[in-house]
Amino acid sequence: MRIPEDVRKDIPLTSEVIYFDNTATSLTPKPVVEAMNEYYLKYRANVHRGVHRLSQMATHKYEESRKVVADFINAKFEEIVFTKNTSESLNLVALGLEHLFKKGDKIVTTPYEHHSDLLPWQRLAKKKGLRLEFIEGDNKGNLDLDNAEKKIKGAKLVAVQHVSNALGVIHEVEELGRMAKEEGAVFVVDAAQSAGHMEVDVRKLHADFLGFSGHKGPMGPTGIGVLYVNEEVFDMFEPPLIGGGTIEDVWLENYRLAEPPERFEAGTPNIGGAIGLATGIRYIKRIGIEKIERQEHKLVKRITEGLDELEVPWYGPRDMEKHAGVVSFNVPPLHPHDVAAVLDEHGIMVRSGHHCALPVMKKLGINGTVRASFHVYNSSEEVETFLGVMEELVKNLGG
Ligand SMILES: Cc1ncc(COP(=O)(O)O)c(C=O)c1O
Repeated sequence: MRIPEDVRKDIPLTSEVIYFDNTATSLTPKPVVEAMNEYYLKYRANVHRGVHRLSQMATHKYEESRKVVADFINAKFEEIVFTKNTSESLNLVALGLEHLFKKGDKIVTTPYEHHSDLLPWQRLAKKKGLRLEFIEGDNKGNLDLDNAEKKIKGAKLVAVQHVSNALGVIHEVEELGRMAKEEGAVFVVDAAQSAGHMEVDVRKLHADFLGFSGHKGPMGPTGIGVLYVNEEVFDMFEPPLIGGGTIEDVWLENYRLAEPPERFEAGTPNIGGAIGLATGIRYIKRIGIEKIERQEHKLVKRITEGLDELEVPWYGPRDMEKHAGVVSFNVPPLHPHDVAAVLDEHGIMVRSGHHCALPVMKKLGINGTVRASFHVYNSSEEVETFLGVMEELVKNLGG
């Protein structure tokens, strides 16, 4: 596949706008929409429930999708639980492990987490009287790994993001996972911004739990997410939701749970969503994850150089090896929303605000940023157009 030309042909919106809001959600290639249409129009039925042919077909496609997801992150079939998004995946972990914690136990995370990988731990800590501690790091998002080693000592759970949606920094998840495992702590990874943009291998990362959303990097639909549960923690993870589909047998006063993954998926799942997600993953595999990473890397390098030339301050690590395809910046004294509105007038879609990472904004002493974020279908020409608009904006401010 030619990058980005061939991918752009599959995504009609790329010819209408410059879409630089991929951190929030990505655009959808036609094959993903077609696969979901096929489910709704040709074999629309529930899964795991019927012997009729439509139900058999839907079940087959749904479970086949689970296999595609498992292979994508080097997990086993039964370790994949479909959820609705990363936020739900991480909440489920906090709820399902609640029974393990006793007063004074320690949870460790970072100051850079998205609210979805912070609030569930805050709530758990408040409820059970736990200590919630944060690995130290600088204003660019770089973690102090010596401090991490100290903080992780004696921790019962460590939760970290792979990539920051606010600063674009790629964290040393593999190393943090190794530290967590040495301490016997449960290791949870928020892969919302890495899955589909770079390699995510649950074994290499030492993950016990890992969550991601279908609608971001994997180019799937909204409303479908993944929770990876390492088979070694099946027994300690209490299904937070139970009912239809989660059982092997039921009596009036008792029940016996089904084996994973069924025991973790209560009720009718998002069947069309799972099929769409698997199609998105197959699409990404066809492009090649290295090519995606290379394209985003090229764009982020150019955009940050361009912003430097314009003396527009941007956040996150200067070391481009540690910087994913996400750039946060500001054009003082303009409010981030005003900058985003100007860019929108030129057909450029960026995000502005606190990016669901208010503690990061507070650490930096700002109320928000403008954020441009890429996927493989973004082009060098788009980045040049963006920089041209920014040049005008900065010039006008000076005048
Ligand atoms: C790092 C990170 N974690 C979690 C989430 C939550 O993802 P979702 O809204 O799909 O649940 C996001 C969304 O932007 C994110 O960037």
